[in-house]
Amino acid sequence: MKFFVDSADLDQISELNDIGLVDGVTTNPSIIAKSGRVFKDVIADICKITDGPVSAEVTAIVADQMVQEGRELRKIADNVCVKLPLTMDGLKACSILSREGTPTNVTLCFSPNQALLAAKCGATFISPFIGRLDDITLDGIELIEDIRMIYDNYGYETEILAASIRNVNHVKDCALVGADVMTAPPKVIKSLANHPLTDKGLAAFLKDWENTGQSIL
Ligand code: G3P
Repeated sequence: MKFFVDSADLDQISELNDIGLVDGVTTNPSIIAKSGRVFKDVIADICKITDGPVSAEVTAIVADQMVQEGRELRKIADNVCVKLPLTMDGLKACSILSREGTPTNVTLCFSPNQALLAAKCGATFISPFIGRLDDITLDGIELIEDIRMIYDNYGYETEILAASIRNVNHVKDCALVGADVMTAPPKVIKSLANHPLTDKGLAAFLKDWENTGQSIL
């Protein structure tokens, strides 16, 4: 499963990239606003950290303007992926940009039918929002399962990019049901390594080693 970092924090992205845990980055207007930086500048900086897809979201709501914005965003770097909302205008823009060879990420997906439309429109990625479904007591992982089955039934090449991931169980469950990609905040990615028995076992190893009085170097 590919790991994308859902953030515009360059230090956090670089830290994870140095470990080999960054296959791409996703942003959205809220993440960009939180960065406090100029949109195009922060996307350009992220694209210098990773060669993987970097999702930059359009802010227009009419297809023709979405296409214009997408073409503008693509000028920033070769690995910019144009993020489009799952509306009829967003799907039309997805069809146009995809036919031009532009990587697209159709976002704000909350139903299998929406994901089916995105695949038919040639989306590179579909972003189903797990956490926001869970927030209203629906089952976000079930959506990933349904999309996986639909895409496999017809051989759609659109990659399932599980988004709105809030905890380590979301990551596990996405891997179990076959999401192609998961995008998560740096804090969630880092917490995947945590386990109290690992900490306890390492402490015991080091205590016993210390008692030998030896050193490796
Ligand atoms: O990539 C989409 C993601 O940023 C949304 O996450 O936690 O705001 O639902 P969240």
